[in-house]
Amino acid sequence: MKDKLIIFDTTLRDGEQSPGASMTRDEKVRIAKALERMRVDVIEAGFPAASQGDFEAVQAVADAIKDSTVCGLARALDKDIDRAGEALKGAQSSRIHTFIATSPIHMQKKLNMTPDQVIDYAVRAVKRARQYTDNVEFSPEDAGRSEEDFLCRILEAVIDAGARTLNIPDTVGYSMPQQFGATIANLIQRIPNSDKAIFSVHCHNDLGLAVANSLSAVMNGARQVECTINGLGERAGNASLEEVVMAVRTRQDFFPCDSGLDTREIVTCSKLVSSITGFPVQPNKAIVGANAFAHESGIHQDGVLKNRETYEIMLAEDVGWTTNRMVLGKHSGRNAFKTRMAELGVEFAGEAELNDAFYRFKQLADKKHEIFDEDLQALISEQSFEAEDEHIKLVSLKVCSETGEVPNATVTIWIDGKELTGSAHGGGSVDASLKAIESLVQTGATLALYSVNNITTGTDAQGEVTVRLEKAGRIVNGSGADTDIVIASAKAYINAVNKLQSPDKRQHPQKGEV
Ligand code: KIV
Ligand code: ZN
Repeated sequence: MKDKLIIFDTTLRDGEQSPGASMTRDEKVRIAKALERMRVDVIEAGFPAASQGDFEAVQAVADAIKDSTVCGLARALDKDIDRAGEALKGAQSSRIHTFIATSPIHMQKKLNMTPDQVIDYAVRAVKRARQYTDNVEFSPEDAGRSEEDFLCRILEAVIDAGARTLNIPDTVGYSMPQQFGATIANLIQRIPNSDKAIFSVHCHNDLGLAVANSLSAVMNGARQVECTINGLGERAGNASLEEVVMAVRTRQDFFPCDSGLDTREIVTCSKLVSSITGFPVQPNKAIVGANAFAHESGIHQDGVLKNRETYEIMLAEDVGWTTNRMVLGKHSGRNAFKTRMAELGVEFAGEAELNDAFYRFKQLADKKHEIFDEDLQALISEQSFEAEDEHIKLVSLKVCSETGEVPNATVTIWIDGKELTGSAHGGGSVDASLKAIESLVQTGATLALYSVNNITTGTDAQGEVTVRLEKAGRIVNGSGADTDIVIASAKAYINAVNKLQSPDKRQHPQKGEV
């Protein structure tokens, strides 16, 4: 019998710390349900003390999820732990994850605490968290740059206080695989009560080594890996869930454990996270990139036709790459639509929401005869953008583009109940449209990123546009989908402006008091 490798997904917490990736409560619930379908063991849903919005999102995920453990992050402070305990009350299975920094630089410069004070905070936090749940995880932040002797002291103390998972974060992505693996082996061997806890790792990707470090830790005794879909996360991101899970599964000859995830859900989940956060997946990204299973060169194609294993180490179907299946069409009825949506984990709050979604579906089916799962996901993303505090909406857009002429766009938008119309010229239809919108909303923001992805294949496919706006240090991503990419671009720009103009009340967990 192989050991179980616990998969702890932190897309909704560390992933959300990527600049511009903040998610609404409903978006978090949709992603959490996709993770639950994949049989992820633990879902870190957020940092409840960050804001009222974060608290409610963790609460909503805790109420919606039945088969995975739902976790909330808390600094080693009473108020954070109480907030996490409160948010997780409705969960079938809950975990509180508390942390404090342990590297010399963090203790001296950020916390201004002695090592003994840090141990006191950690022990107190774990004991308080145990009042809410038996399932408590402790992380010594910046463990990758902490002294091993000190890690042994603090980890032994928190196990005695009741922590059952010890997570070793390489917070700044500084470790090397061999060294990180050796640290895990040493900790397990040196800490006298280490058999009472599961060792976990949480690696950042600053040097592109997050997955390698995580796998090295697994080879040295770690039995939980913290990771995110598409490797989303603070700065260069976290270890990517799909890479860790598929490496362990593909190399069962090498690893002494396996995750038991339903890997066929990986691609759907990756697309969902990308569409909700507006972070496109690069085509050559392992497992979930559009080219990950594409064989371009003649030699490779010839080899694969003769024997698939000449160039393929995994089956595309095993990670959910099916050739786009048409699931619904122009003549599909409300019931078929509702049933497919339920299979994708989308439940409508009431008849009005279902009617609205069904109406949008019919509009799309008129333009695009075959509707795929990806189209349905985009449709729901769009509906949930609009359900948020959206005070600007696109009413109409007219674009004139002709060879030899400068393109011109006229846009009408709705701002807080008033209709405004503006026009602008631009280098192309998209440029003219975004300039026309900007002339009305006047954000003065910098356009930091503009990208278009086809949701499915074919010239009638919907294009999904991501727009990143930056103003006074605040970064937001907006997304929009349409069969016409100029309209998708306008929707994405307006979505980003709505986000930019909504108040940002969140606190960053690692920049607070402790
Ligand atoms: O990177 C990190 O150290 C974290 C901790 C809160 C676990 O995200
Ligand atoms: Zn992290």
